[in-house]
Amino acid sequence: MKLEEHLFLIGFMGVGKTSVSRQLSQRLQVREVDTDAMIVQREGRSIPEIFEQSGEAYFRQAETEMLDVLGGQEPCIVSCGGGMAMREENVEKMKDIGRVVFLTATPETIYERVKDSTNRPLLNGNMNVPYIKELMEVREPKYRAAADVIIATDGRNSGQVADGIMQVLE
Ligand code: S3P
Repeated sequence: MKLEEHLFLIGFMGVGKTSVSRQLSQRLQVREVDTDAMIVQREGRSIPEIFEQSGEAYFRQAETEMLDVLGGQEPCIVSCGGGMAMREENVEKMKDIGRVVFLTATPETIYERVKDSTNRPLLNGNMNVPYIKELMEVREPKYRAAADVIIATDGRNSGQVADGIMQVLE
């Protein structure tokens, strides 16, 4: 199958966007990119450093700019930072240049996957299921509104999730 437009993976932190993106990249034989990694590379600093030194608004603007960069590139798999779909402008840009896949997981699953991470400023000091649940409930409608496809990841490994996406795409 040939990828005709970008494939954006969106969803909450820890839902598995990065690992599913890698699997899809192998199956479809196309490049995968990660918007967080693009920003880190451009800025020459880590995500926590960007949040700390320049603030969240700066980071959010950088995310929007990455979508413009991607607009000029060949179709690829794009693993998005968990907040990408929160801006209406970003959703429009993603829909203009690709299809959007929303990966879901329960707060308990998310917690298990991210509990040892120190690279997610939004969860610093908030690494617990109730907080994850609260933030997820705020975000969920926006993820759903952005999604062309919704895939649950609970109890499935990244290869199985990628297979599920491939079936929908074909
Ligand atoms: C964020 C998610 C992170 C990263 C930043 C903010 C968010 O990406 O972009 O820490 O707002 O949900 P991951 O979803 O890859 O952890």
